[in-house]
Amino acid sequence: MEQKAPELAAVEKYGGRRSCLIQILHETQREYHYLPEKALRNISKAMGIPMTDLYGVATFFKAFSLEPKGKHTITCCMGTACHVRNSQGVLDELRRCLGIEPGQTTDDMMFSLETVNCVGACALGPVVIIDGEYLGEVTPARAKKIVQRLMEGEGKD
Ligand code: FES
Repeated sequence: MEQKAPELAAVEKYGGRRSCLIQILHETQREYHYLPEKALRNISKAMGIPMTDLYGVATFFKAFSLEPKGKHTITCCMGTACHVRNSQGVLDELRRCLGIEPGQTTDDMMFSLETVNCVGACALGPVVIIDGEYLGEVTPARAKKIVQRLMEGEGKD
């Protein structure tokens, strides 16, 4: 039996309710790591929502991406409180380990690196967010270990 596209499975799961659009987009993004145009077209057709409205929602919320993203997204907070606790050193280590700059994705589509200005967890700074999980008091050495562990998890050395 042919497998249903993840976005259509999400539409079905939420009964196609417009009030659940954000959850449907979240579930779609979780599958693809971004919102591909084809998936948005499927959602548009299945829910009767114009593409322009879907793009409006997808661009309004920072959590959504219309660009392909890596399997893992590593976000380094560069807000003031994190900055004074050496978030720049953490970011430099992440750039070195991943070989990419903030806003970029590795060629193998495994990692995307992002920066953000304060996520409201200043007391824990420097804060790094890995696939939505917040880590506090991250040092450059710890950042390196985190990336190594993720790479090992993907069967890399
Ligand atoms: S400055 Fe990093 S969490 Fe506030």
